[in-house]
Amino acid sequence: MARFPLRRAPRRAGPSIDDRVRDLLSRMTLEEKVGQLVQYSSREDMTGPASGSSITPQLEKGEVGSMLNVVGAAETRRWQQIAVEHSRLHIPLLFGLDVIHGYRTLFPIPLASAASWDMARIEQAEHIAATEAAAAGIHWTFAPMVDIARDPRWGRIAESAGEDPFLGAAVARARVRGFQGDGSFAGTDRVLACAKHFAAYGAAQAGRDYFTTDVTERVLRDVYFPPFQAAKAEGVATFMAAFNDIDGTPCSANPFLLDQVLRREWGFKGFVVSDWGSIEELRAHGNVADIREAALKAFNAGLDMDMENGAFGPHVAEFVRTGKVSLARLDQAVGAILAAKFRLGLFEDPYRFSDEQRQAALLLAPAHLEAARDLARRSCVLLKNKDAVLPLKTSGLKVALVGPLADAPLDQVGTWHAKADKNDTVTVRAALEKVYGAGLRYARGCETQGDDRSGFAAARAAAAASDVVVLALGEDVFQSGESTSRASLDFSGPQIALLEELHRAGKPIVLLLMAGRPLLLEKIEPMVDAILVPWHPGTMGGPAVADVLTGAYNPSGKLPISWPRSVGQIPLFYAHKNSGRPEPLRPKDPYFSRYIDLPNSPQFPFGFGLSYTSFVYDQLRVSAPVLTESGALTVTVRVRNIGRRAGEEVVQLYVRDRVGSVTRPVRELKGFQKIELAAGEARDVAFSLTPADLAFWRADMTFGAEPGDFDVFVGPDATASLTASFKLD
Ligand code: BGC
Repeated sequence: MARFPLRRAPRRAGPSIDDRVRDLLSRMTLEEKVGQLVQYSSREDMTGPASGSSITPQLEKGEVGSMLNVVGAAETRRWQQIAVEHSRLHIPLLFGLDVIHGYRTLFPIPLASAASWDMARIEQAEHIAATEAAAAGIHWTFAPMVDIARDPRWGRIAESAGEDPFLGAAVARARVRGFQGDGSFAGTDRVLACAKHFAAYGAAQAGRDYFTTDVTERVLRDVYFPPFQAAKAEGVATFMAAFNDIDGTPCSANPFLLDQVLRREWGFKGFVVSDWGSIEELRAHGNVADIREAALKAFNAGLDMDMENGAFGPHVAEFVRTGKVSLARLDQAVGAILAAKFRLGLFEDPYRFSDEQRQAALLLAPAHLEAARDLARRSCVLLKNKDAVLPLKTSGLKVALVGPLADAPLDQVGTWHAKADKNDTVTVRAALEKVYGAGLRYARGCETQGDDRSGFAAARAAAAASDVVVLALGEDVFQSGESTSRASLDFSGPQIALLEELHRAGKPIVLLLMAGRPLLLEKIEPMVDAILVPWHPGTMGGPAVADVLTGAYNPSGKLPISWPRSVGQIPLFYAHKNSGRPEPLRPKDPYFSRYIDLPNSPQFPFGFGLSYTSFVYDQLRVSAPVLTESGALTVTVRVRNIGRRAGEEVVQLYVRDRVGSVTRPVRELKGFQKIELAAGEARDVAFSLTPADLAFWRADMTFGAEPGDFDVFVGPDATASLTASFKLD
């Protein structure tokens, strides 16, 4: 019996969401309120009993507010029906899912799309992801992950936008905008977003996932918070607390993070979900003795929704009855969750998002695939191109395609593949076969694991019969993402042996590095002529790579991370401090900050990426020598395309604050623009700087700029040498 007529936009005018929340709260029992805090996962993909039977009674009693991992229009409808038709107040469920880089159409992994530095296209990708997910009944994605990641040993660097707070904040905004649009949810093409993992999850010691962090408040505020603040400023609906502890307090029960910073300082009005089991894990952290205490600590700290802990459900009502938790705190948490459901229009139509027809029409729509291909090629970073071996000719060329990632439909999609079906993937092999037909010889060569070299002979033969070798090496899907920390960043299995084998064949080698993080290139770089990094490029990665290899698309990606030479350099990032001994004190004096066995510099700097054309920078100008407190400066540079084809360049602006009340980074990204220049074209690119751009957390822990001398650097990467200076008065 449908008690809820299927009403669509235009929405009913009437009481405000706040009024509706207040009214509903006034009619709810304590148990029903607590039910809204509870989130369960569908266990349909897991071994063990299906939750279908076990949680139905709780759904019917209104003791569940949200579910995750229930996917598809029919499935979400089925569960929703139980909640809304049987529970006393007919409160709809909220369905959440990790839609991290697409739902059915998979875009490149987030680290890759950050390498595009193309905010409009990142936003568009998330809009498409939201459109597909929403058609399949999903209301809420656990994305974007906005953790700053400076340690490639950490597998979740794949889900991040890399090392830099400024770029990270820009990407966070674009992704939130893409998922949520203007936040009105007037159409069914947007979902709620979730800024995660709050906070400093990427600072895990030694790059080990879930491990402890020891970050000062200043570093939290200067480095780890800005992308979260940007997400908040963009109206992100929810936050997720991180697994880790910081300075001794687990994030899921951290009043400094969840209450002081998020709610009081930033004014966040949405709700905070735990990470999977992260309340229960307070016990293992050694911060509480039992789950009851964990629930109390977490809830009072400001955590609102319990993801798969079984902590809030059994305990919060009793806490309220015994005065350990105030009713006001409970109403605030429940109210925020209900408000999200009202915003989505679920009280008017709880099945609004679960639409089989829309699902059939929208998943893998041609326009979605085209956008995925476009973002994937824009995410490719060209690191080396000796003697212009790339682009490859498309006729009369014999190409050997070798390697475990060349025809790897699932690996190519990468971590968190939502509803990806590997049959949808167009691999590099499939795409290059289309271009070269019989001119393409494919040999897998080896796997990413083990030491089976029986495929080497076929790889050698393919190389011998070809003009050029395209070698696709990297990481398989199980080597990247959550819980895939690596102590070694070398290519695993017999991949390097395969490269050495092919190198002996003497043909030019184009290395395709398809992975979720940087892998070490120092030793193998001399053996290859070109290095192109498509990362894990998603469903349409094959055609995207083919576009770049053949020059149909001129690469424009730039690294969102500093590429280490060695694991020993990690953490490695460009915005480091100068130290008291950046240079030798006297010639040949060894007592300065360095390694005796390796340069300090990365193999490739942050912001680096080549094009098939070349750009030169000159005429750097600052509009005035002095910037006043209420003023603005314009920094202008001339960029010229001196090559013979059109290309895109990411023009980057860095600033150095020479003297601070606390030591300042050697340079910090403060602006970037991606421009396209025709062959021979020159353009002035202008950036505006105000004192707000120079603000940081000062010695007294106030936020603001300090007068003094500043240097600006503008160029193609973080080592930009064109420089000018100004004074802040
Ligand atoms: C991850 C989260 C994710 C959650 C739900 C956790 O293990 O850390 O990022 O959203 O699972 O799948």
